[in-house]
Formats: sequence, C-alpha cells, structure tokens
Amino acid sequence: MPWNVWILFCWVVPILGSWGPIDMPFSREMTSAEGENVVQLKWGYDRDMQEISIEIQTPLASWVALGLSPDGKLNASDFAVTGWNKEDQQFFYDAHVEGEWPPVMDKSQDYELLKLDRNETHTVLRVWRKWFTCDSHDLEIENDTIRVIVMHGEDRDFTPSEENTYRKSFFFLEIFKGIIDAEILLLYEFRLKDFPIPDQDTTYACTFIPMPNVTTKHHIVRYEQIIDPDSVGIVHHILIYFCGNNLNFSSEVGDCYGNDPRYAKCMNAVLGWAVGGENFDFPADVGISIGTEEDPKYIRIEIHYSNFEKKQGILDSSGVRIYYTPELRKHDGGVMMTGIFTFPVHFIPPGAELFRNYGLCNTNLIPQMLNKPVEDFHVYGYLLHGHLTVRSIRTMHYRNGTLIGSLGEDKKYDFNFQQLRDLPGFITVQMGDQIMVECSSSTPDREGVTFGGPSTLNEMCVVFLFYYPVVPVAACLSILDIQHVNDALELDEADNLMDAVVNISGADWDEETTAKAQNAIMEANHTAMLMHRTGAVINETSSAIPISLPSPHPCHKHTDYD
Ligand SMILES: *[C@@H]1O[C@H](CO)[C@@H](O)[C@H](O)[C@H]1NC(C)=O
Ligand SMILES: *[C@@H]1O[C@H](CO)[C@@H](O)[C@H](O)[C@H]1NC(C)=O
Ligand SMILES: *[C@@H]1O[C@H](CO)[C@@H](O)[C@H](O)[C@H]1NC(C)=O
Ligand SMILES: *[C@@H]1O[C@H](CO)[C@@H](O)[C@H](O)[C@H]1NC(C)=O
Ligand SMILES: *[C@@H]1O[C@H](CO)[C@@H](O)[C@H](O)[C@H]1NC(C)=O
Ligand SMILES: *[C@@H]1O[C@H](CO)[C@@H](O)[C@H](O)[C@H]1NC(C)=O
Ligand SMILES: *[C@@H]1O[C@H](CO)[C@@H](O)[C@H](O)[C@H]1NC(C)=O
Ligand SMILES: *[C@@H]1O[C@H](CO)[C@@H](O)[C@H](O)[C@H]1NC(C)=O
Ligand SMILES: *[C@@H]1O[C@H](CO)[C@@H](O)[C@H](O)[C@H]1NC(C)=O
Repeated sequence: MPWNVWILFCWVVPILGSWGPIDMPFSREMTSAEGENVVQLKWGYDRDMQEISIEIQTPLASWVALGLSPDGKLNASDFAVTGWNKEDQQFFYDAHVEGEWPPVMDKSQDYELLKLDRNETHTVLRVWRKWFTCDSHDLEIENDTIRVIVMHGEDRDFTPSEENTYRKSFFFLEIFKGIIDAEILLLYEFRLKDFPIPDQDTTYACTFIPMPNVTTKHHIVRYEQIIDPDSVGIVHHILIYFCGNNLNFSSEVGDCYGNDPRYAKCMNAVLGWAVGGENFDFPADVGISIGTEEDPKYIRIEIHYSNFEKKQGILDSSGVRIYYTPELRKHDGGVMMTGIFTFPVHFIPPGAELFRNYGLCNTNLIPQMLNKPVEDFHVYGYLLHGHLTVRSIRTMHYRNGTLIGSLGEDKKYDFNFQQLRDLPGFITVQMGDQIMVECSSSTPDREGVTFGGPSTLNEMCVVFLFYYPVVPVAACLSILDIQHVNDALELDEADNLMDAVVNISGADWDEETTAKAQNAIMEANHTAMLMHRTGAVINETSSAIPISLPSPHPCHKHTDYD
C-alpha cells in the first residue's frame, strides 16, 4: 500500500491526555537480540485496575508496530501502530491484521499512547491498555502466554521485513515471590561432564550426582540453568530428581528410559528447567531441605536432548546450579507432579482441531501411602508441561466433587516457553481434594494417533505443583480406563490395556470417531496412582469427576480452548 493511502488512516493524537491512562512502574525489563536487531521490552501491570503498560525500544525507525498475536501468526494479531508521517507528525492507532499485512485500524481505539520518542539511534514507544476491552479485535491480556510481534521500519511505508521483525513469547502477569536474603550463600552444580550428544532426534541422558556434602540441614533457595553454549537449541529440558537412599549410585551416564531400574527409583522432580524457562528464587519463607538424615544423598539428573538436525561431535556439560544456605527458612518446600501418567493410554486422534485429555490426582492417597495424617499443602507455584500438540493446560482443583479453583493454567501454552510461575497467593490443598489436569491438543497435520511418551513427538500432560510442607511424594497421576474407550468405539474386544492401545491406533479416525472417543474419555473411570520419592506406587480406582468450565470475564470472547 503506497504511503499516501496510509496517510488517510493516520491518527494524529496529542501525547498523554489529561484523563485515563496512568504511567505504571515497570515490573520487568527484557532485552533480546536477533543479530543486529536489539529490541528491549518493558512492562508493568495493575492487577486491581486490570491495566497494562508496555514499552518497546527498537533501533531507529519511522514506524513501529507492537503486536499481540493469538498464535504467533500475523493474521488476527492485535497491533498498536505508531510513527511519524511525511510531515513529521506523529500518528498512533489501534489496529489488527485481517489476513495480510498491513494492519487495519480498529473501530474501537483502546490503546493509549504514553510516549513516542526517537534520537539518532533508537525509537521508543510506550502504550497503555485495559486487559479486557470488549473489542473483538483486541487480544485479551490474561494469565496466558502472549506471543509478541514487534515490527519496525525506517522507510516510511509499512513494508515488513524479516530482519526488522521480532517475535517472542511473554507471560505479562507474572508474579515474583522469590527473594534471596541469606548472608551465607553456597553454590553447587549438578551437571554432566562432556557428554557426547548422539546424532539422533531424542536422547534422555541420566546419571546420579551426589548432593553437596553438608552434614546439617540447609535450604536450597535459588537455582539457575547452565546451558552449555555448544548445546543451545538441543538441550530441551533438564530435571533434577531427588533419590531415595536405598540405592547403589554410580556416575556413568545412561538412557533414562532404558534398562537401568535404578532410574525409576528417583522420581521426585524438584528442580527443573525447560526451553524458555529462567532462573527461580523460592518464596521468602520456603526452601528445599538438604543435609538431614531423611534428605537424599544423591540426585538423578535427566537431560532431554532434541537433536533434530543430527549435529555430530557436541560434548555437553549442561546442568543446574543451586544456591543453598544454612540460614533456615520457615517451611520445607516440595514438588509434586500431577496429570496423566506418561503411557500410551494417553492418546490424541489424528486430524483433531481440539481434543482434551484428563489426568486425576486423588490426594487421599497421600496419607494412605505415608500411613499418617498429612498437613494441608500450600501450593505457591506451578510449571505446566506438554509437548507439541498441546495448546492449553488447566489444573482444576476439586473439593468434595465441586470445582473450587485453579492451581495454574495457560490457554495459550507455548512448548518453547516453559516457565515456573508463582501463584498470586498460597492455595491450600486439603488431603482428600482432587486435582484434575486438562490438556487440550490440536493435531490437524498429524497422520497417525499421537500417544503418550517421553519423545517430543509423543505427548505428555503434567503439571508440577510447588508446595510446602514437603512429603516424600513424587507424583500423583492417573490413567484412564482405556477399555471403556475401546468399547465406546465398538472396536474388537481387547484382552488387556496394550491390546486396546493397538486397536485404538488402528481405528478409522474421522470426525465422528474422534467425537465418540472424546465423549468416552470424559466419562471414563481412572486408575489414580501415587508414587513415592523412592518409586513405590499405590493405586485406586476412581470414578470420573464432572468437568466444569470457569466463568469468563464479561468481555471474554469464546475460543475453542476454553
Ligand atoms: C485470519 O483469521 C481469521 C479470524 O481468526 C480467520 O477467520 C481467517 O480465516 C484467517 N485468514 C487467514 C488467511 O488465515
Ligand atoms: C537514544 O535513546 C536510547 C533509548 O532511550 C538511549 O538508550 C540512548 O542513550 C539515546 N542516545 C543518545 C545519544 O541520547
Ligand atoms: C489469574 O490467575 C489468578 C490465580 O489463578 C486468579 O486469581 C486471577 O483471577 C486470574 N486473572 C485472570 C484475568 O484470569
Ligand atoms: C564430607 O565432609 C566430611 C566432613 O566435612 C568429610 O569427613 C567427608 O570425607 C566428606 N565426604 C565427601 C564424600 O566428600
Ligand atoms: C549395593 O551393592 C552391594 C555390593 O555390590 C550389594 O551387596 C547391595 O545389595 C547393593 N544394594 C542395593 C540396594 O542394590
Ligand atoms: C461433601 O458432600 C457431602 C454431600 O453433599 C456432605 O455430606 C459432606 O459433609 C461434604 N464433605 C465435606 C468435607 O465438605
Ligand atoms: C484389537 O485387539 C484384538 C486383541 O488383541 C486383536 O485381535 C484385534 O485384531 C485388534 N483389532 C484391531 C482393529 O487392531
Ligand atoms: C465406573 O465405575 C463404576 C463403579 O465400578 C461403574 O459402575 C461404572 O460403570 C464405570 N463407568 C464407566 C464409564 O466405565
Ligand atoms: C494397581 O495396584 C495393583 C496392586 O495393588 C496392581 O496389581 C495393578 O496392576 C495396579 N494397577 C495399575 C493400573 O497400575
């Protein structure tokens, strides 16, 4: 579109009216570079007023467009467009993309310009908006991953260029409870040493590493990832599992899901990093206990490598660095995995726009396994984990059969942006409560059934809950009654679980079969399982719980993933 046509759309606004938006302090600042293209993004929000302000700084440009995309694509993205026209007058307007670039102006103008500035090297834009605007062309700012697209140009038309386009996922409404207040802070690293990464798609490398040699109780208060520069892009996740002390540990590196039965005895993931994640500070009154008799003497490190480019000869020394202190905090923290037990009874048919799977945690199994009364859990953080088909994850909290809240969710889950997130407060989970994890998947381009499994191309659906006070429990998961699905689809009689899986894999998947399978999954009973830190498992049969949907904001636009 030529510039003179664009002039017609230009919206010349006075900077900062005397009403409405207020400049909020920024809570966060991030600088990302892609080659020469250094973009800085800052933001701040007001939870009570449900407002956000965002500032971006780009290399010198005559126009800048800040976009919030529903799925990472340009189409249907919500843009604030600004710059200077030929007469050097500022323009600014709220817009959206309809099919193709450039964006068209929204009927309802919901962004406010707080600042537009440039000097010889940079352009800076700061905008303000309500989280919910009631304009269907505006993306809602919610507790979800938001895919930001920033574009800029110097040439005074809106020609997009890949070099001047910047894309990244953010979680704007983040909360930081973490704090480091210790005077004595010790460091220790759990990492591999020059592990040769195989030239295959998926490798899970495991080994045992001793805990720091402390003979009195200490608290881990922070951890950081260490990604070997040579393996950036190949290291997909790193998990540190606490082990029971009933094992013979050794230092060779093996296949986590191979034949070494010892790995299955260290199942309590306590520290972790996945693509897109960052460092984590535990809340001020919580630390992970090490050094007592009951605490593990060893950990198992698990590194998942995704080497789809089949790169050869890379030696990897990635891992996790912990900060620990003898200055004890009030509570011992723990981590419990909830969701679907990773096994092929978790399946998603091919060609599905939306398919939901459920994993159930029956917390009544916890006192049962430990054989003593257990205090309520105070949950303060969560990490959602699924693979490539997962579009949204919800962690539903039930008490006595009634949905009472959420323990963490993301309606726009991004596999490449997995982050441990704090909850606004501490949520109490009473023993006896049920936790249901829902993963909504989409498989329009897949040919065969996707099954649960550790490979990135298989699927997982788990949520790690960060809570205190700790109990030696690793996971609270379920598998559904796959026979019921087999029967509902009127497949051949299956004698056992694996036969049913084979039958489902071979079924004729069309829209009707998919709908029947979805229905069967919603009504199927589950086998709820609880896994001890040492790998021991107990289970019970559990009937399905009715799934309720949360009531959305009045301006909320319905999406498939609700
Ligand atoms: C763009 O998005 C709209 C709304 O989501 C959709 O109806 C339309 O089909 C999309 N167009 C293209 C070209 O993808
Ligand atoms: C230009 O603006 C950027 C962003 O505000 C600032 O960091 C930089 O120092 C400025 N340069 C000069 C020469 O003032
Ligand atoms: C975000 O999540 C928190 C905690 O689950 C909840 O209290 C809050 O209402 C949510 N806000 C929105 C806009 O969904
Ligand atoms: C741990 O520390 C104690 C005392 O500080 C020492 O005697 C012992 O040898 C150490 N153990 C290891 C494995 O380094
Ligand atoms: C550990 O190794 C020792 C000696 O090889 C053996 O006697 C013992 O049974 C092993 N313990 C376990 C738990 O495997
Ligand atoms: C659970 O619900 C039943 C039936 O509504 C009621 O009798 C019971 O007291 C409830 N239990 C709790 C712990 O709220
Ligand atoms: C279903 O499973 C049964 C038992 O293993 C087997 O005999 C049958 O061939 C399977 N049917 C299909 C369609 O795979
Ligand atoms: C769930 O289990 C109950 C009790 O065993 C049983 O009556 C019911 O038929 C089961 N439901 C399904 C869908 O299999
Ligand atoms: C449940 O536990 C029993 C033993 O208590 C075991 O036989 C059964 O295989 C377990 N079920 C599952 C699905 O793991």
